[in-house]
Amino acid sequence: MSKLLITDTILRDSHQSLAATRMPISDMLPACEILDSIGYWSLEVWGGATFDSCLRFLNEDPWERLRTLRKHLPNTKLQMLFRGQNILGYKHYADDVVEQFCRKAIENGIDVIRIFDALNDPRNLEAAIKYTKKYGGICEPAISYTTSPVHSEDYFVKLAKELVQMGADTICIKDMANLLLPYDAYSLVKRLKSEVDVPIHLHTHNTSGTGDMTYLMAMQAGVDIVDTALSPFGNGTSQPATEPLVATLKGHERDTGLDLNALSEAAKHFRKVFDRMKKEGLISDKSLRVDTNTLLYQVPGGMLSNLISQLKQANAEDRYYEVLAEVPRVRKDFGYPPLVTPTSQIVGSQAVLNVLMGRYKSFTKESKGLLRGEYGRLPGEVNEEVRRKAIGDAEVITCRPADLLEPELEKYRNEIKDRIRQEEDVLSYALFPQVAMKFFDARDAAEAAKNAPQKAEPEEDENTVRELYVEDLTVR
Ligand code: CO
Repeated sequence: MSKLLITDTILRDSHQSLAATRMPISDMLPACEILDSIGYWSLEVWGGATFDSCLRFLNEDPWERLRTLRKHLPNTKLQMLFRGQNILGYKHYADDVVEQFCRKAIENGIDVIRIFDALNDPRNLEAAIKYTKKYGGICEPAISYTTSPVHSEDYFVKLAKELVQMGADTICIKDMANLLLPYDAYSLVKRLKSEVDVPIHLHTHNTSGTGDMTYLMAMQAGVDIVDTALSPFGNGTSQPATEPLVATLKGHERDTGLDLNALSEAAKHFRKVFDRMKKEGLISDKSLRVDTNTLLYQVPGGMLSNLISQLKQANAEDRYYEVLAEVPRVRKDFGYPPLVTPTSQIVGSQAVLNVLMGRYKSFTKESKGLLRGEYGRLPGEVNEEVRRKAIGDAEVITCRPADLLEPELEKYRNEIKDRIRQEEDVLSYALFPQVAMKFFDARDAAEAAKNAPQKAEPEEDENTVRELYVEDLTVR
């Protein structure tokens, strides 16, 4: 068997999971040379919540960040996380926006695009797969892993085969909540390796403390690539740490070939970054601890903290365990969606409503949309009584949801035509209209200040740059 390949998430998921996605480019650049020399299969650097966080909190142009990273990491494949038809936002976009985003991501430096859909509806991955391939990217569709009566091993194998037929270059098992236990990982990877022809890439977190064991068993079963994070930002709700796995395999048949000294040098830099972020209050002790509630309630770590903050707002923190017990019930009635962005928020909010207002006495707009089929096909059978309560006699959408959307790129372009400095601005605006506009305003103001050198530089507004961390809604 060949060596185990490693994707390091130090520049994306690790700080999204532990530090509210707040690592600025200035903390990345000093480590780029050493990171680029290590020999990773890829570095995950972009997508997920980083795009939003750049614009909203860090006053960084996410496209500029990508170009800068590309320049400083010339020898390593750069990887991003892409939310299917939602791109990096929270609603379905028309195909022309998906095409333009894939094209611009690849033109600006992305090599590997990992594409997932919260419902595992392949029709929501179709456009992103097609355009990733059209513009020359490596296409890695993902299986959103979860456990439920409908999510059997057969279900995942069948889905993987379908994704290969659609054009997958590699397949990712995306275990966002660390629910994939070691022996199940062994068995699933074994089957995928014997029935699917493309490399298998495994992504997990260490939320419930089983991540390292899961990787070891998956490695034994022949998994090709795993996601780890350099130790300063490893473990807890982030990925299992890189160095222990590399050390474990040293001298064995699946030796990663990575140099522990080089990893240690890179870790030295990020340890300082971590300590500073900790002081700034961006990292909570809770995210670093093993939390087996995830296994008990099948609820991803990030969702637990969202539930707590919603209950706090309603002054009903004492009903936390009632809500936790309500989540599996809502999930069952809604046809067992995997709990990942955006379904984790939808199911979680509905569970909170049920507990506070009475079961299904009221529905969120998003719950109605989910039950109406606006997000795609739900994996299991929906409780029809609940569906009728939510949407009455409204017709349920059964086609590919994006087929109902007219092209919309030109509309977005027209809306901001005086503000466009680069074609990519149209996409920033399409995804996060208000946040992008605020960013454009700040950019123009900075530009104006630069052109008027006789005036003193305006004081940076600390509150805008480092707005206090409002609960991160993204479940990675
Ligand atoms: Co993740």
